[in-house]
Amino acid sequence: MDKIVVEGGASLKGEVKISGSKNAALPILVSSLLADGWNTYSNVPGLRDIKSIKQLLSYLGAKVETDGSTVRIDGSGLCKSEAPYDLVRKMRASILVLGPLVARLKKARVSLPGGCAIGARPINLHLKGLARLGASVELKHGYVEVSAERLKGNEIYFDIPTVTGTENLMMAAVLADGVTVLRNAACEPEIVALADVLNKMGADIHGAGASIITIKGVQSMHPVSVSIIPDRIEAGTFMVSAALTRGDITILDCQPAHMGTLIHKLRLTGTAIKIDGKNIHVIGSDEIESIDIKTLPYPGFPTDMQAQFMVLMLIAKGLSIISETVFENRFIHVSELRRMGADITISGNSAMIKGVPMLLGAPVIATDLRASASLILAGLVARGKTEVHRVYHLDRGYEAIEKKFARLGASIERVRE
Ligand code: EPZ
Repeated sequence: MDKIVVEGGASLKGEVKISGSKNAALPILVSSLLADGWNTYSNVPGLRDIKSIKQLLSYLGAKVETDGSTVRIDGSGLCKSEAPYDLVRKMRASILVLGPLVARLKKARVSLPGGCAIGARPINLHLKGLARLGASVELKHGYVEVSAERLKGNEIYFDIPTVTGTENLMMAAVLADGVTVLRNAACEPEIVALADVLNKMGADIHGAGASIITIKGVQSMHPVSVSIIPDRIEAGTFMVSAALTRGDITILDCQPAHMGTLIHKLRLTGTAIKIDGKNIHVIGSDEIESIDIKTLPYPGFPTDMQAQFMVLMLIAKGLSIISETVFENRFIHVSELRRMGADITISGNSAMIKGVPMLLGAPVIATDLRASASLILAGLVARGKTEVHRVYHLDRGYEAIEKKFARLGASIERVRE
């Protein structure tokens, strides 16, 4: 396993190019199962999770070719309707194959993804939605078995605006008979990106990006050539690193409109942010103001930025409260940050943070994707050396992050353990 070693203290300066969005690429690559013929996807990030989904799609019978950040997939060879445990357990977003498999093969047997470090992460809303479309759904021996001769459009209400649940049902409904209406749908930019791709493939989807999405079933879909949108969470992570190190970073090739809440909250900390088309110029201030945040579904403050933003509050002036309302166990990074000198008190789903003058480097262990990013950020600003172990968590969602930080002046390297 690798570790990442950071020597803190550098004020980061320069430009960083943002990779394609992991959470947009995953459902879009899966949508290749809905059509015969070669799809071409460009700006696909080189991540462990992308490798996992390509493995699964190949296992199901799709042809997958990769050339750098361009991935080509032909879904016409789709022949297996089962996603096995050893592939699904590696990445829970594998559950996204459920909708397309039922739509194309009339059945699917997918291992239940199980929980992960940040929460139980049930898929009950995915399954309730498929049942509303007329599918039979059974749980057997750790697998979910779904079948339907022909899915029929219907009204579906999500008790919680689930991102992959919305994506799964959108992909199930595009080839169903009649009209499907998703109510209380998730509004994330990644949902809009998927809907845009499905519509290019011949689907008839309206309303993506808002909480009511209408999908009129079509007879068939055709392959497309599309580019993946930039990763708003990677962009946000680098924006926080500029604020944290009192640096001066220009984020290239991102979509500021996807980060409105984060930009607003960062400006309240005293960070200067100038937007110029697809680029964002971030200049950190010496005095970092403490502010409160509460994570919410989009367009609220993104839960995937909670751990990173917390690190900024660790060295801010005064007290801040961070409430995590999306996942039930997303403060795992707190114990590791405390070992670096952070002053954090947890009460229920809230963390109260008292700013300290400085953090001290320490050996720490990554536990989940965004927690590992927060540990790298803490190492960048801590005095002395920080060693982040189990960085395979990081590689799931960040492409060569240590190289990108090194190009900005950080003293950081990946070491094989
Ligand atoms: C997506 O996960 C993202 N993953 C997550 O990013 C992100 O944190 C999350 O959305 C919230 O924005 C991908 O897009 C691949 P949810 P997802 O269904 O779809 C509950 C990262 O770091 N829920 O929107 O799994 C659930 O327990 C990852 O890139 C049910 O109760 O999240 C949670 O409390 C981490 N039943 C809430 O809804 C269901 O059937 C939101 O979950 C589904 C969800």
